[in-house]
Amino acid sequence: MKNLNKNSIGAAFIALFAMFVAGTALAEKPEIAAPLTPLAEDGIHDPANPAITTLQDPVESMSAFPKDRRGEVQWVESLNKGVITPRKFLTGDTGEGEELKELDLDIILKNTAQMPHVRFPHLAHTRWLACSNCHSEIFLPKAGANPISMEKILKGEFCGRCHDKVSFALWACERCHSVPHPGSPPAWWK
Ligand code: HEC
Ligand code: HEC
Ligand code: HEC
Repeated sequence: MKNLNKNSIGAAFIALFAMFVAGTALAEKPEIAAPLTPLAEDGIHDPANPAITTLQDPVESMSAFPKDRRGEVQWVESLNKGVITPRKFLTGDTGEGEELKELDLDIILKNTAQMPHVRFPHLAHTRWLACSNCHSEIFLPKAGANPISMEKILKGEFCGRCHDKVSFALWACERCHSVPHPGSPPAWWK
């Protein structure tokens, strides 16, 4: 049993904890189709409707897009590489509404137990979200001022207001928990 060091016990504990949290919170949510599921099987489009064949399947329309390890589109990389050039306003590059202001400010969230710390990048968010999308209804604009936890995220609060819905799924732990620290074990969840 010499090989069973502190880290592997820690990892096993976190794995069990994560399964418990995921099991309880995810059981209450409707099924979300896997990335790039054909439209006829996604549970949203009516497969019996003849129009289904006139729509392009995501696997084809998004074939040129960079993907993450789960096959989900990497939207931030797509934007950075110019694969997509979203409009600034509903009506085009000018229009009514709050102007987007880019902010290059990373916040490192360290209440992660043995998981790597979380890097929250303002830049990746403020290239398509206004400050008011998050401040102050979802997050008070002060580092450490929000009682964020993984369980609340899995239940759709804080980061979970968008992630697992319009932005990448929570299964890609490493995309948020991206800053290893001396106490964090190697990625056991992949
Ligand atoms: C969308 C970003 C995001 C993803 C994806 C994500 N986490 Fe987290 N996680 C967070 C944030 C933010 C915190 C809270 C950090 C803080 O408050 O300092 C957190 C905290 C945690 C904690 C600390 C204990 C707790 O309950 O808060 C654990 C353990 C954890 N996450 C595990 C995981 C696992 C396992 C996965 C993948 C299945 C995962 N996380 C995916 C953002 C994320
Ligand atoms: C996608 C959500 C989101 C958007 C959009 C966003 N922020 Fe934040 N902001 C956060 C989070 C998360 C934190 C960290 C909160 C914490 O640590 O509890 C934060 C923290 C901050 C802080 C505190 C920094 C510190 O060191 O205390 C300021 C200031 C801030 N944001 C300003 C802005 C401004 C200005 C914009 C628009 C240009 C903006 N934010 C857009 C989520 C967002
Ligand atoms: C208001 C909606 C919203 C909230 C709240 C939000 N995000 Fe995001 N996030 C997005 C969108 C939209 C993207 C870009 C689409 C994608 O990558 O799936 C994104 C992308 C990211 C990326 C990818 C950056 C890259 O370079 O690929 C990270 C990391 C991230 N978010 C972490 C977080 C964390 C951590 C929190 C909570 C502290 C959070 N987000 C809260 C909407 C949000």
